[in-house]
Amino acid sequence: MSSKTLKISLMLLGTISLLSCNDQATVSVADASAQLSANTSIEETLEQAVIERWYGSEQVALGSEVFAQNCAVCHGAQAQGLAGDWREKLDDGSFPPPPLNGTAHAWHHPQEILLRVIDYGGEAMGGKMPAFIDVLEQDEKLAAVAYFQNFWDDEIYQQWMQMGGTN
Ligand code: HEC
Repeated sequence: MSSKTLKISLMLLGTISLLSCNDQATVSVADASAQLSANTSIEETLEQAVIERWYGSEQVALGSEVFAQNCAVCHGAQAQGLAGDWREKLDDGSFPPPPLNGTAHAWHHPQEILLRVIDYGGEAMGGKMPAFIDVLEQDEKLAAVAYFQNFWDDEIYQQWMQMGGTN
């Protein structure tokens, strides 16, 4: 091989590898978007994305204090519930405090209802939860909600949003 041919073939090689490099990049992007549209529903795509919450870490921090002082005695420090089975009535006919960490059904209630329970408690309905309307400021109640919602995984949080959430 003459040095000229070598030079040309080296140049060619360079061009080819450059091309194939580009090609690969194009193919993988195309592949990814094809895969996305082929087997991913909008819900799944949303699920994969990082789910934005209505609260920030400051609210969770305030909420952990509010919760510890006002709620943990009944609902547990991690909002995990303290009763054996929250669905089973106690001897007096009332229900035990349920977990609020996403394992019971607090996530069935939109924000408005959660805040109403906190404001008025369950006493009016034969329940045992006290009313906090004159005890906590609005931002403290919201922070308490943020605190227990922070135990919800994205799936639960998303279902809550679909069932009303913060709307
Ligand atoms: C004295 C015990 C007690 C305290 C303190 C208490 N709760 Fe409750 N909570 C209950 C009980 C019991 C229920 C079930 C409804 C009822 O019987 O009143 C309940 C229900 C709830 C619900 C509705 C859950 C659902 O799945 O429907 C939320 C939300 C809630 N509590 C939040 C709080 C927050 C936030 C605090 C603190 C600010 C708090 N609770 C303090 C006992 C308590």
